[in-house]
Amino acid sequence: MTDTTFTPRVFSGIKPSGGLTLGNYLGAIKRFVGMQGQMETIYCVVDMHAITVWQDPKELANMTREVAAGYLAAGLDPSQSILFNQSQVAAHAELGWVFNCVARVGWMNRMTQFKDKAGSNAEKVSLGLYAYPSLMAADILLYHATHVPVGEDQKQHVELTRDIAAKFNHDYKTDFFPMTTPVIEGPAMRIMNLRDGTKKMSKSGESDMERINMTDDADKIAKKFKKAKTDPEPLPETVEGLADRPEARNLVEIYAALDDTTPEAVIAQYPGAGWGTFKPALADLAVAKLAPISEEMARLMDDPAEIDRILAAGSDKARAIAEPILKKTYDIVGLLRSS
Ligand code: TYM
Repeated sequence: MTDTTFTPRVFSGIKPSGGLTLGNYLGAIKRFVGMQGQMETIYCVVDMHAITVWQDPKELANMTREVAAGYLAAGLDPSQSILFNQSQVAAHAELGWVFNCVARVGWMNRMTQFKDKAGSNAEKVSLGLYAYPSLMAADILLYHATHVPVGEDQKQHVELTRDIAAKFNHDYKTDFFPMTTPVIEGPAMRIMNLRDGTKKMSKSGESDMERINMTDDADKIAKKFKKAKTDPEPLPETVEGLADRPEARNLVEIYAALDDTTPEAVIAQYPGAGWGTFKPALADLAVAKLAPISEEMARLMDDPAEIDRILAAGSDKARAIAEPILKKTYDIVGLLRSS
């Protein structure tokens, strides 16, 4: 349910830790562009989240620019959306600390992404990785964001954001923070690994063949789809036939998301098609949709000063919204302010 007492406002972000993947594009960026112009939109490159695991300092700055270039190349317009990098608005970290004192350890212990990332190494990972969802709640609530477009893997974190807002409002007897709605809709909410349809496509997977990178050229995209794992059966005659066929379903969903259509329509277009027909068609579609974006990203990356200028201007606009909300939060909590 959407909280109607707050002005509709979108916030979302992407970590600059490794290159952008097709999962980031279809699950996030493409949908960010779709929401632009419908309500106020704020999109962040969440560099402070990236350092919860080790990042080479030079690479991090470059990756931050690359995610920004991905936003711009896909169609985010700095005159319509606020685009900035998280570390430049100190209020994220400040509200994050307040929320560390609201969130309960038991809640954090239930975060499946932390369990997956920490694995059997939980004693050795950074404290930041554990507290990460509380900083994510701060990112969202610092702008009183009502809508957060994310892929399926972030749903639990947005639900935690609602729990943090509810506990804050309850403990301080206020209705200051909204109940944010996660926006998770369309065919591409969980794009899977091309070599294993039971695992999510991610920037950090071991093999480059598992994922499509936003910077891959046409040959690489074609090769990766050609080598994508499938079962031996052809495509079914109806979409129900994709149940229990994770790899086939994934390729159909990728096609549907790239073509702005539904898996039903894709199956209707290719009923019973063999992989020798469908994979090249998918590769052609992906190249047609992604090549203009990757070319534009490369062009933008040739002028890093321009990207830095856009991010700096976005940070000023973000600060203008965030700082009054942080000040009010401090007042509610009783943190004495000298300014
Ligand atoms: P991150 O950087 O891992 O991913 C960025 C966005 O891309 C989506 N995504 C996918 N969607 C579909 N299929 C996939 N295989 C796939 N891989 C990634 C993610 O769901 C996400 O929407 N914690 C967040 C970043 C964040 C954030 C926020 C998001 C920090 N603060 C506030 C929203 C609001 C993350 O690590 O996303």
